[in-house]
Amino acid sequence: MTVAEIRKKYLDFFMERGHVVVPSSKIVPENDPTTLFTGSGMQPMLQYFLGEPHPQGTRIADSQKSFRAGDIEEVGDNRHTTFFEMLGNWSFGDYFKKEQILWIFEFLTKVVGIDPNKLYITCFIGAPEYDIPKDTEAAELWQRLFKEESIEADIVDIGSEEDGYARGINPGERIFYYDGTKNWWNRGKTSPQTTPVGDPCGPDSEMFFDFGTPHDPKWGEHCHPNCDCGRFVEIGNNVFMAYRKVSESKFEPLLKPNIDFGGGLERLAMAVKGTNDIFLIDTMQSIIVELAAASGKNYNDTQYQKSFRIVADHIRGATFMIGDGVSPSNTDQGYFVRRLLRRAIRHLDKLGVGEGTLVVMSERVIGAYKDQYPELDVQRVVINKTIEEEEQKFRKTLKAGLKEFERLLIHYGSQTSVMDGKDVFILFSTYGFPFELTEELAIERGFAVNRGEFEEEMKKHQALSRTGAEQKFKGGLADESEKTTQLHTATHLMLAGLRKYLGDHVHQAGSNITGERTRFDFTHTEKVSRALLDQVEVYVNEAIAKQCDVVMKQMSKEQAQTEGVEGSFWEKYPDVVNVYSVECSDGTVYSKELCGGPHVQNTKNIGTFKITKEEASSSGVRRIKATLS
Ligand code: ALA
Repeated sequence: MTVAEIRKKYLDFFMERGHVVVPSSKIVPENDPTTLFTGSGMQPMLQYFLGEPHPQGTRIADSQKSFRAGDIEEVGDNRHTTFFEMLGNWSFGDYFKKEQILWIFEFLTKVVGIDPNKLYITCFIGAPEYDIPKDTEAAELWQRLFKEESIEADIVDIGSEEDGYARGINPGERIFYYDGTKNWWNRGKTSPQTTPVGDPCGPDSEMFFDFGTPHDPKWGEHCHPNCDCGRFVEIGNNVFMAYRKVSESKFEPLLKPNIDFGGGLERLAMAVKGTNDIFLIDTMQSIIVELAAASGKNYNDTQYQKSFRIVADHIRGATFMIGDGVSPSNTDQGYFVRRLLRRAIRHLDKLGVGEGTLVVMSERVIGAYKDQYPELDVQRVVINKTIEEEEQKFRKTLKAGLKEFERLLIHYGSQTSVMDGKDVFILFSTYGFPFELTEELAIERGFAVNRGEFEEEMKKHQALSRTGAEQKFKGGLADESEKTTQLHTATHLMLAGLRKYLGDHVHQAGSNITGERTRFDFTHTEKVSRALLDQVEVYVNEAIAKQCDVVMKQMSKEQAQTEGVEGSFWEKYPDVVNVYSVECSDGTVYSKELCGGPHVQNTKNIGTFKITKEEASSSGVRRIKATLS
């Protein structure tokens, strides 16, 4: 059964059960500045868990393009990928636990033919401190289904992951209770304690496939479903989204509970195929076969296997990302595309494959996925051109960069085993080596790299290049009058709107706000059309009409950066920063920006926002004037 067939069977199965199948949202979240990438099927659905009606009804299913950036460095083993497809089905206050468990069991064991003897289940053990009970209902539903297949399915308490490694599992045991760090979901795998106030959330119940491989004690003494050794692989997660966190110590049941099911399609395909190597599924193989032909190397050769896997994963991720409008850059999502492509090129080098092959492989990706994701076909020219240009750019300096790297190591000799931050920065600024690439090269040669030092260098460099810009804008706020403050908040919304419609390369280059108008400079090279300015106006005015709260939070600079908070002149701010966000009661975050204030407390009554002028300011910088009336 191919990946495409499994996907179709899943979507058909849920369509037959009253679900509307919707297209995937973009891999880059369109209305969630809190995160860079869509990492699960439910992220784009957040507002519907809190009661906003989904335009297509209460039963929805899809296959969502997802990207988990945290896994880039893990790619190379038999199961990690950065990009993946997540199959999802949702009940927005419609069916609940009983139907979901019954259906998903039927789908797995009857429709795609997974042997139920190889399925293991986890359920939530409960959180008495928050009055959230143990999920005995789910455990008993599962047990009954296994019994019907004449399979023993004892239910046992495990607790934490550590408890799992200490206890292990015994024959006959199949359903395991774990604590909130394992069987709880909000918009990420967190726990009741760490779920942010306001989030919809709930216990979950996960399905694991047993590949039967020997346990690797490097992870812990005994194996158990949540062990990381690779014997058990999670193939699906049923979230019983029945709560909303209303304060640090309190969860309230939602009026109508929801279902959020997510299952990694590639992992499911592994289970169906009975292979524990994700790179052997057909969509990956189509890239790997191409690579084998181009390199004359064999995928099973242990000397080259890791490079095969890295190239296959990274070209797939980059192709999807570019297809959704991201271009390689040194910041935000663009940085990840750059990292993926440049790391892939280095591994192509290791395989002895020269320039021009990357685009042949992205064609394979497009070919394997265009039926499900037609945007890939639509964007084909852009994807190919972007990849070719990035390859040319990087290849130009790759050899010289590697030479420089070697020279540095010789220079260090036996004096040090840590690369100097300045050197790492030069490899980045002169030779285009993303930090992580140098780090990887260094580790291979027994050296360490200091990220802090590298970032210090980066800041010094940015400070220098911005000195000019700062001198030009002494202004900021002319005063702290009510009108100026209102315009200041509107300016934040406008920047968020510009970034939404023009892209993430847009940052503030300077601002000057008086009681009459805001004058705002931002990084962008071309003229912005009136139609687009209108869209930005609509974005700002929508946030005003919705009477959103403006909330100030203090956090470490590092946390702000990882949360994707918008900001320029980072180096001017202290280690703990103030982040102002415009948050509406429906959960939409319209803006999230580093700032020293002042801002209005709520966007109500600040008037109607209008962009009155857009013009060039200096090279690569545009200027907008706007008013509130
Ligand atoms: N949202 C849940 C997950 O991604 C289903 O695991």
